[in-house]
Amino acid sequence: MKLIMAKNYSDLSRKAANVVSATVILHPNCVLGLATGSTPVGMYKQLIEWYQKGDLDFKAVKSINLDEYVGLDAQSDQSYRYFMNENLFNHINIDRSNTSVPNGMAADIERECKRYDKHIHDLGGVDLQVLGIGNNGHIGFNEPDEAFEQETHLVNLAQKTIDANSRFFDSIDDVPKQAITMGIKSIMQAKSIVLLASGEGKADIMEKALFGPITPKVPASILQLHPHLIVVADKDALKVVS
Ligand code: F6R
Repeated sequence: MKLIMAKNYSDLSRKAANVVSATVILHPNCVLGLATGSTPVGMYKQLIEWYQKGDLDFKAVKSINLDEYVGLDAQSDQSYRYFMNENLFNHINIDRSNTSVPNGMAADIERECKRYDKHIHDLGGVDLQVLGIGNNGHIGFNEPDEAFEQETHLVNLAQKTIDANSRFFDSIDDVPKQAITMGIKSIMQAKSIVLLASGEGKADIMEKALFGPITPKVPASILQLHPHLIVVADKDALKVVS
């Protein structure tokens, strides 16, 4: 595990963007695994800035997003497809047909999950997976459970996740209760992973995830076993080593 300590959120965003940029520059047709949520927003802004300066080219890059809410379509401003369009894809030269987000409107969710896994497999897997971490230790929407779920699957969101995500919705009742998420196996098969964490709200769970026992009760703890894990965290989120 490589720990990169950042001074604050903007430093974290720049350092994380550097990790992604290195992959894009070294492997122009790489497959990026992407996350939504608040944490990577600054990193996406930085990538857009470097793209606009002419330092980055995304024309051959492919992307796979971790997850999507069930029941929200691409036009819904709370959907993760909409988030990705707004926060990254609309501002860079990635070919939209090279971007993938699970289809939360699929009539047959099980079939959609299988399609998504096959698609990841057909692309040759993920080169660099960007992850945030939920305050209950989830990665993607792999919630604390009795066992690690391997493949892309339908998940009932934990109450803690619904509560945390309600900040993006008008009311807590509007937060979808289910999502489609890439499984732990697909995440762990990424060649490299960059885990981002910011703010003291993440400090306890980061300590458990990185230095506690490996358990499906803290899904992110499995990352300790990844051979190429890069953690970019600000001082507040990684108190234990700062
Ligand atoms: C988002 C995702 C989630 C978030 C996590 C942290 O695609 O898969 O696991 O990374 O909930 O969210 P923020 O960054 O908002 O704290």
